[in-house]
Amino acid sequence: MEQFFDKYLKTVLDTETILYTGTVTAIKGLMIRSRGPYAKIGELCTIKNADGTELVAEVVGFDQEENAVNLMAYGDTKGIMAGSEVVASGKELRVPVGKKLLGRIIDALGRPYDKKGPLQNDEYYPAIAPAPDPYTRKDINRRIITGVRAIDSLLTCGKGQRLGIFAGSGVGKSTLLSMIARNTNADVNVIGLIGERGREVMDFIEHDLGPEGMKRSVVVVATGDQSSIARLRAAYTTTAVAEYFRNQGKDVMLMMDSVTRFCHAQREIGTANGEPPTQSGYPASVWDMLPKLLERTGTNDKGSITAFYTVLVDGDDLNEPVSDKVRGTLDGHIVLSKKLFRERHFPAIDITSSISRLWDDVTGPQTQQAANKVSRLISIYEENKDMINAGVYVKGSNPEIDEAIERHPAIEELLTQSKTDHCTIENTLQILSAVSGIDIPEDEYSEDAGLGKKTTAQLVQERKIDDVASSNELSSESMTAQTANSLEQAAKALGGLSKK
Ligand SMILES: Nc1ncnc2c1ncn2[C@@H]1O[C@H](COP(=O)(O)OP(=O)(O)OP(=O)(O)O)[C@@H](O)[C@H]1O
Ligand SMILES: [Mg+2]
Repeated sequence: MEQFFDKYLKTVLDTETILYTGTVTAIKGLMIRSRGPYAKIGELCTIKNADGTELVAEVVGFDQEENAVNLMAYGDTKGIMAGSEVVASGKELRVPVGKKLLGRIIDALGRPYDKKGPLQNDEYYPAIAPAPDPYTRKDINRRIITGVRAIDSLLTCGKGQRLGIFAGSGVGKSTLLSMIARNTNADVNVIGLIGERGREVMDFIEHDLGPEGMKRSVVVVATGDQSSIARLRAAYTTTAVAEYFRNQGKDVMLMMDSVTRFCHAQREIGTANGEPPTQSGYPASVWDMLPKLLERTGTNDKGSITAFYTVLVDGDDLNEPVSDKVRGTLDGHIVLSKKLFRERHFPAIDITSSISRLWDDVTGPQTQQAANKVSRLISIYEENKDMINAGVYVKGSNPEIDEAIERHPAIEELLTQSKTDHCTIENTLQILSAVSGIDIPEDEYSEDAGLGKKTTAQLVQERKIDDVASSNELSSESMTAQTANSLEQAAKALGGLSKK
C-alpha cells in the first residue's frame, strides 16, 4: 500500500508548482541575456518566441546585481527578440536511456536524430554526473579485443582502459574508430560524434560503421554547425548513455570523436561568458571540465567502459595543451603518423610513440616477451633506417640490426591491415608469435591471460624460456637460421589470415 502511494508522492514532489520566468533583454554574440528567471547553472530553460517557436537553452552564467542570466541556446537563435519569454524547467539535462537505444542516433538533448520515430527508453540518466567512486572501481585485468592487429598485439588494452588517439587532420582517426566499433568484442558501442562535418557523420554511420556495427551501437551527434552548448553537452550525453549500459553489467566501448571539439565548444562558451583566456586561448573552465568528463569512463562495481577519445593534434605538436592534458589523464595514447599515412601504411599507428599503460596487466608473460621483442626490433629498425636505406649498413656488423632488417617485412604485415579486415585475437597472437619467434601458448589467447600470471622469473625457471636478452646474445649465424624458421611460420599465419 505504502509503495502504491510512494509513486504518487514522487509525482507530486517532482512537479514544479511555481513557474519561474524571465524575459530576453539582449543577445551578445553567442550569449542570450535575460532578466530572470531564477535558475541555477546548467538548468534548462525554454525560450518562447512571439512567432510561436520555442527553443531550449541552458543557463551558463548569471549576474545577480544586474538580475541578468546568461543562456546558450541548443538550436538556432532565429526568432528570439527582446521580450521573448524564458521559462525555467528546474532541471538539468537528462538523457533517455534503455536497451532499445541500440541502433539509434540521438542528438545532444537525447532526441532522435535518425528518422526511426520516438525513442523507447526505460529511464533517464543525468548528463552531468560524477565519476565512479575510486574505491568501487573494479581492477582492469581482462583484455578487450579491438580487431586491429597493431593494437591487439603491441598496444593491448584492458576492459575499462581509457586511451587517446592523437593525430593531425585526415590521418585516419575516424577510420580507426570505425574499425574498432565493427570488430570489438565489447557488448555495446556508444559513439559520440562531436563537431564533425554533417557529410562525415552520415558517411561514418552508413559506410564506416555499416549496418553490422550500427546494430550494437548508439550514436550521439552534434555536428560542427550546431551551437557550442549542443557540441559540449553531446559529450556528456554520450558518456551518460555509456554509463547506463555499464550499470547493466555490460562491457561498453565508448568512442568520442573528437575531444578537441569538446574543448573548442567550452572555449567558445567560456569566452562568451567573459572568462579570461589562459593557455592557447582556452579559459580555465576547460581544464576543470575535461578531466571530470574523462574520469567518468573506466570501470565501476558493475561493468566497464573502455574509451577511445580522439585528439586533433594541431601542427603535429603533442605538447599543445589539449593533447598534453588528455595524455596526462588517460591510461595510454595511440599516435597516428602523417608520414606512415603518406606511405600507405594503414592504420598509420606509430608504435614507437604510442603506449598502452595497462598492457602488461592484461597479457600473458609469453605474449609480453613477444611484444617486447617486436617493439624493440621496430625501434632498432627506425633508429638505423637512414643507414639501411642508404645501403651503408654492412650485414653481419650487428646481430640485432640484422634481425630487425630480416624481420621488418613480417613486422610490417603484422602492423598493417585493410579497413575491412577482421582480425581475431587467436590469429593476431599466432602472427605475433611467428614474427617474434617466441612461442605463445594457447592459454594466453584468453581475455583473462593477465590474471594470476606467473612472474617472468618463475617462467624462466619452469619453462627455460629464452628471453629477449638471451636471444640477442645468439650468434648472428644461428639467429639467421632461427629467424628464417619463424618468418616461415609468420608467412603461414598471414596466409591463413588472407584466406579468412
Ligand atoms: N586504414 C585505412 N585504410 C585506407 N584508407 C584509410 C585508412 N584510414 C584512413 N583512410 C583514408 O584517409 C582519409 C582520412 O581518414 P579519416 O577521415 O579517418 O581521417 P581523420 O583523421 O578522422 O580526419 P579528420 O581530421 O578530418 O576528422 C579517408 O579518405 C579514409 O578513407
Ligand atoms: Mg575524423
